[in-house]
Amino acid sequence: MRGKMRLYFYLNIVILVSILLLVFYMYSVRQIRRKESVYSHLSVNAQESVTEKTVNYRKNDLVVAVVACGDRLRETLNMIKSALMFSKEKLNFIVIAEEKLIDSFKEKLSEWQGFTNHGFFFKVLPLNFPKKDGHEWKMLFKPCAAQRLFLPDILPEVDSLLYMDTDTLFLTPVESVWAYFNKFNKSQMAALAPEHEDPNVGWYNRFAKHPYYGKLGVNSGVMLMNLTRMRTFKWTEYVVPIYKKFKLHITWGDQDIINIIFHYHPGKLFTYSCRYNYRPDHCMYTSICKSAEKDGAAVIHGSRSSFHLEKQPVFRAIYNVFDTFQLGGDVYKDFYQPVETNLDNLEATNCGKVKDVFLKNLRRYFDLDFENT
Ligand SMILES: *[C@@H]1O[C@H](CO)[C@@H](O)[C@H](O)[C@H]1NC(C)=O
Ligand SMILES: *[C@@H]1O[C@H](CO)[C@@H](O)[C@H](O)[C@H]1NC(C)=O
Repeated sequence: MRGKMRLYFYLNIVILVSILLLVFYMYSVRQIRRKESVYSHLSVNAQESVTEKTVNYRKNDLVVAVVACGDRLRETLNMIKSALMFSKEKLNFIVIAEEKLIDSFKEKLSEWQGFTNHGFFFKVLPLNFPKKDGHEWKMLFKPCAAQRLFLPDILPEVDSLLYMDTDTLFLTPVESVWAYFNKFNKSQMAALAPEHEDPNVGWYNRFAKHPYYGKLGVNSGVMLMNLTRMRTFKWTEYVVPIYKKFKLHITWGDQDIINIIFHYHPGKLFTYSCRYNYRPDHCMYTSICKSAEKDGAAVIHGSRSSFHLEKQPVFRAIYNVFDTFQLGGDVYKDFYQPVETNLDNLEATNCGKVKDVFLKNLRRYFDLDFENT
């Protein structure tokens, strides 16, 4: 009798444990499934860099690319922030960064994904130079800017992108720059703004010892690139020989190489106006970018460290407001109003005299531009 009781007792325990194990097993399977489905929504950044490369972009995806090295982390994040503040489309960012910056980018951008209405995707990739002259390329210009010359080869899955220097900021939605792809004719593969408007102060026409595009050259800070067409053209095969031929005459690194290539192939470049790459040069003496006076600057470019130097107070002030603004905050109250106040205080400076250049697109964004409605 006792033996039988004991047997029942053990049998019950075995059954109970089995049931518990089964429940636990089913629960874990569900958890794993759930995790998988979350990750496939997050797509790009949640995966390891090996699989990142296989993510397929669709043809109409808006892709913004930037290359960041050295002390450019914060500046680059501010550019990305400005893109996120005004765009209504889902954006894809490709950040190519020096090894030591990669984790910081991933951390900040993941955090920001929680603060944006439309969501965005991003990839952070390590620098990737042709093995042969890798070191030489890195030294060519300010750290690693030459990386951009190789984008058609290192991003074979991307059709087109908007390349931005780290020291640029959007004052309009990315879409309004991207729209220029539709204006390309069959042969154009990139769009750039002129380096200068006025031959009397232009750099290329006065100093360059190499060929350059058009009358005054082009500035490479804000560049629409149809990578598909650049690959068909075999862009990279032009880069290396041109670099070798002109390396002793090159001052502005990758920008000079771009100028030289388009000097020989002018039909392949679309030029948009200075309002898509508005620099201190456009207002520091007199106002020379008429399209920005009329329609406002779409992208500002703090070339020669203008975002950080007292010499260009308007550029520095706008940069600082972007820097302080927190995504998810009130763009009107915490961004637009401080910009306006700063510019009011700088009316006496040359760039402050044309403050509407900087405010026009923001006002349009907030529907404040009553004159133009
Ligand atoms: C880039 O060029 C290819 C080939 O001409 C074309 O199919 C594609 O639509 C272009 N991309 C954009 C964004 O215009
Ligand atoms: C595209 O436009 C450029 C610049 O206006 C021109 O040189 C080129 O011939 C055009 N190509 C085609 C196919 O129309």
